[in-house]
Amino acid sequence: MKLCMIGTGYVGLVSGVCFSDLGNTVICVDNDENKIKDLNNGKIPIYEPGLEEVLKKNYKQKRLTFTSDIKSAVNKSDIIFICVGTPTKKGGNSANLKYVFNAANQIAKYINKHKIVVTKSTVPIGTGDILENIFKTKKKNKFVDVVSNPEFLREGEAIRDFIYPDRVVVGTNNFKINKTLKSLYLPIIKKTSRYVSTNRRGAELIKYASNAFLATKISFINELANLCEKASIDIKDISIGMGLDQRIGERFLRAGPAYGGSCFPKDTRALLDTTKKYNVKLSIVDSVVKSNEDRKKLLIKKTSNILNKKIYNKKITFLGVTFKPNTDDMREASSIPMIKFLSKKGAIIKYYDPTGFKNELSKFKNVFFSKSVNNACEKADLVIIHTEWNEFKLLNFKKLVNKKNINVFDLRNIYSPYKMKKKGINYHSIGRKLI
Ligand code: UGA
Repeated sequence: MKLCMIGTGYVGLVSGVCFSDLGNTVICVDNDENKIKDLNNGKIPIYEPGLEEVLKKNYKQKRLTFTSDIKSAVNKSDIIFICVGTPTKKGGNSANLKYVFNAANQIAKYINKHKIVVTKSTVPIGTGDILENIFKTKKKNKFVDVVSNPEFLREGEAIRDFIYPDRVVVGTNNFKINKTLKSLYLPIIKKTSRYVSTNRRGAELIKYASNAFLATKISFINELANLCEKASIDIKDISIGMGLDQRIGERFLRAGPAYGGSCFPKDTRALLDTTKKYNVKLSIVDSVVKSNEDRKKLLIKKTSNILNKKIYNKKITFLGVTFKPNTDDMREASSIPMIKFLSKKGAIIKYYDPTGFKNELSKFKNVFFSKSVNNACEKADLVIIHTEWNEFKLLNFKKLVNKKNINVFDLRNIYSPYKMKKKGINYHSIGRKLI
């Protein structure tokens, strides 16, 4: 099929690359000309394991092209995917839909024969209806069917998530259009996945409900971790014991810092905003958002307690600062509020992250990027393992820190509290204060 992806962010670029790998002809469009230039030179704007290889392969075979010329991309395609960002609106909780509307307006301007317009961007209930109205106002509605097809891929696992999804969700009431979308997804549905048909609003809500539910699971286990700490229970045992019940499931039950990233924080807030419009309560999601905010404060307090509230001039090391491993994304990473606080209190902070220097941290005083774990940890008063990159899983802290008193705060529960104690390391983790 002939496809066009509007927006070359995570969703647009990964889906475009994967669709081309399945044999479709894909045009990826972005109004950022520099990004398009880079992509045409084989430079990938995001850090995503495995993406470069698949992209280059399909680019060479001419199934995948990059352009800023939306007019020709729209004209040449049968299905147009809107994959632009829907960040939180400044000063509120609602999703900013200006990029989505802008894309729809552009499509409306250039469309001159029938196309399927699919929103892959995460958009609130009823956005598809608004898009339909945009096409109606421009008298182009006869050319367009607007469908919702949310994307569920994770950063760092994006290629695998796209090719082996748990489900593909398509929202439309049009039987023929549904059939076309189903045949597009057939190669991956056959392998492992379920194809879920619903109406457009249903598909829009499935995306928010899924992210809100996963955020709820994480917040639930994080709060239980607080209880485990007080009661001398290992939260990891609780996750395993609960997760083995298939009705609960073991995934997304890892206690850690506050959840971050470009999706959970933004989407839970946007879902709450939607409830206002419909005058209903989602008190659970409301609590999850609050719980996650509280968690950021709690981690700061715990860090301060480990240092007996004496932060000034203390050498603090962060291993990993991104919101999770296998990404360079700093959006809503819990390292940011922690580093902001510690820097304000006069700490000297070094951080090492496999994805390199972070602009987001450069505005804080006395915060330095180290090029290696060794350099970052040398003589540290406290080492904070913030992100669970594989390379942090077998560290010799005694050798690395090279000091009498070694303090480690492991936010991802990588190490064994018993083994660390045996080594004489003052080890703190999440939900595992053992007696
Ligand atoms: C999330 C969803 O998992 C995807 O399905 C969805 O498509 C995506 O948002 C989106 O809406 O675009 P992502 O933000 O890439 O994906 O990251 P996750 O792997 O879900 O992790 C989110 C946060 O939860 C991270 O901070 C991670 O450390 C945390 N987390 C995750 C935990 O603290 N514990 C867990 O057990 C799992």
